[in-house]
Amino acid sequence: MQREKILVTSALPYANGPIHLGHLSGAYLPADIFVRYHRSKGSDILYVCGSDEHGVPITISADKEGVSPKEIIDRYHEANKKAFEKFDMSFDVYSRTSRPIHHETAQTFFKSYLEQKLLIEKKSFQFYDDKAQMFLPDRYVEGTCPKCGFEEARSDECENCGSLYDPSELIKPRSKISGEEPLLKETSHWYFPLGKFQDRLEKYVNESNEKYKWKDNVIQYCRGWFRDGLKDRAVTRDLDWGVKVPINGADGKVLYVWFEAVLGYISATKEFFKAKGNEDGWKDFWQDTSTRYIAFIGKDNTVFHTIIFPAMLMAWNDGNKEKYLLPENVPANEFLNFEGKKFSKSRGWGIDVSDFLELFPADSLRYTLASNLPENKDTDFHWKEFQAKNNSELADILGNFVNRTFVFARKHFGNKVPALGELQKIDSEMIDMIKEYPVKIGSLIENYKIKDAVLEMMNLARAANKYFNDTEPWVTIKSNKDKCGTTINVCVQIISTLAEVFGPVIPDASGKMFRMLNTNSAGWVNCGTIRLFEGHELGTPEILFSKVDDEIISEQINKLGVVEQVSYNEPMISYEEFSKIDLRTAVVLEAEKIKKSKKLLKLKVKTAGGERQIIAGIAEHYSPDELLNKSIVIVANLKPAKLMGLESQGMILAVENKDGELKILQTDDKIVPGAKVR
Ligand code: 2FM
Ligand code: ZN
Repeated sequence: MQREKILVTSALPYANGPIHLGHLSGAYLPADIFVRYHRSKGSDILYVCGSDEHGVPITISADKEGVSPKEIIDRYHEANKKAFEKFDMSFDVYSRTSRPIHHETAQTFFKSYLEQKLLIEKKSFQFYDDKAQMFLPDRYVEGTCPKCGFEEARSDECENCGSLYDPSELIKPRSKISGEEPLLKETSHWYFPLGKFQDRLEKYVNESNEKYKWKDNVIQYCRGWFRDGLKDRAVTRDLDWGVKVPINGADGKVLYVWFEAVLGYISATKEFFKAKGNEDGWKDFWQDTSTRYIAFIGKDNTVFHTIIFPAMLMAWNDGNKEKYLLPENVPANEFLNFEGKKFSKSRGWGIDVSDFLELFPADSLRYTLASNLPENKDTDFHWKEFQAKNNSELADILGNFVNRTFVFARKHFGNKVPALGELQKIDSEMIDMIKEYPVKIGSLIENYKIKDAVLEMMNLARAANKYFNDTEPWVTIKSNKDKCGTTINVCVQIISTLAEVFGPVIPDASGKMFRMLNTNSAGWVNCGTIRLFEGHELGTPEILFSKVDDEIISEQINKLGVVEQVSYNEPMISYEEFSKIDLRTAVVLEAEKIKKSKKLLKLKVKTAGGERQIIAGIAEHYSPDELLNKSIVIVANLKPAKLMGLESQGMILAVENKDGELKILQTDDKIVPGAKVR
């Protein structure tokens, strides 16, 4: 039989920060399970991924740290590659979009569109920072929203009221680079006419859905885009960092990151085969119509993989002899949250993959995430649930079953597989189960119902424990040793099946199980067959899973929300911005508690310009008396605000120590009130 040929890609993560558990649940773990299953099934499968190393997210990270984009991508490419390895991801290739092979590939696509006269060159006005001598990408401009007055609105979109507007309408725009007001300057860009492809795209999406049953969330999302109508999209940007636009005179322009990143899947495949000395091997996966292509992503990447990338491939195919395949399916996952909130590095909410794996084995994390994948709705990671999954399922169900079988075989059968004697109904039923479960589990994985597949894997382990309990080998060893031998023989076959079916999810434990059985995987198709016969020598027992104790879990929970590493230059402000803050010394003349407030004190202070009232959140740290006559520092030009109905005309400066106690910043009392602090 011909081996099924499958190409699998996972979204290329930006190399501008460490990956977290949310990324794993979205586009990586489900794909890895799918791939490992297919390898066990004998499919000819290639799994491609790599770092996305261009675009504004990278330049912003570089600016924040005051380093070059190259430094950022080198750092995070390596870090993420290692984290993925520790997590036992089984990519065949993990490339990077900064490689020359990628730049060439992306430019070739662009040139083909130019030759076909598909791209439209359009002029438009964009913000330009004269001081920094550069056009400003959207995320580099801030100003006041023309609709609601929100002062930190983005150049074309307000986060506060949700309105979209033309950048020229933004009030008092500021460049985030220099702090200056940017000019609107004319520039020209190339646009990809997505609208031209709308009919074909709709047909592609609908037909693929009928044939391969796309996920509901993905289909709904595509239909929304089609309903709104597809529009021309600019595929170039004025930026230094990225794949250069391959046209004379287009200096300072690069391809839009999304336009080239998706092509990274192709260039990574080329790189893989080139390294093997098979220059054209990649075509078997991208251009042979017998290949199936599946693109795993998180939901925020949907439009790029179901609409833009397919349109780009169609456009290439229109003008070239060699035709690319389109994704057969794009099983996008929703998001994973962390203890009820979004992951946030700056707020210390979540945990990096590599930190996690310093503490716990990859298998425990893989199993926990896999049994709670956000396949149809957002889900949550909870530390307590992780502990319960590890202790009560992996250790108490799977680990326990494997352990008790091996202990028994060692103690009573010389560590050899005993004979399979006459089968009772209970034995035959169990043997049927180890044939049926792999079929059911395989079909769930093939239909991207990985969470359900994992549930069934553990159900098989549950059934195995029940079989052990019900056959009572500790009784039959005394009353009927043959019968006992039959039980242990069946248990050995079950372990071989468990090792195979759990393999895609917990590859390390699966390997251990095979070692303990002193055998290798015989492939998914041979799951459930009786394959280890009487007299087969078993291996040495190993611990499959250790328990996770309460202490280490509490420690992790307590760490949440504490930002460990403060990066001193994040975000940078200019001297001009700093100099806007008027810091002054002041002396406390009066202090009193505010009724009904545990936290606030009402202070009267003397500072530049006379006396004023400040409402300060320090009542839990200072009694009113302690404050009298203290010489403190205040922000004197903070807009007055009302707290508990009282006007506060400034803010006092205090330091928070690591126990959360506030200490007011004090000056020498010889300094007169109202002196400027700089
Ligand atoms: O969301 C992201 O992290 C993007 N870097 C994903 C890109 S997927 C593909 F285009 F490469
Ligand atoms: Zn607004």
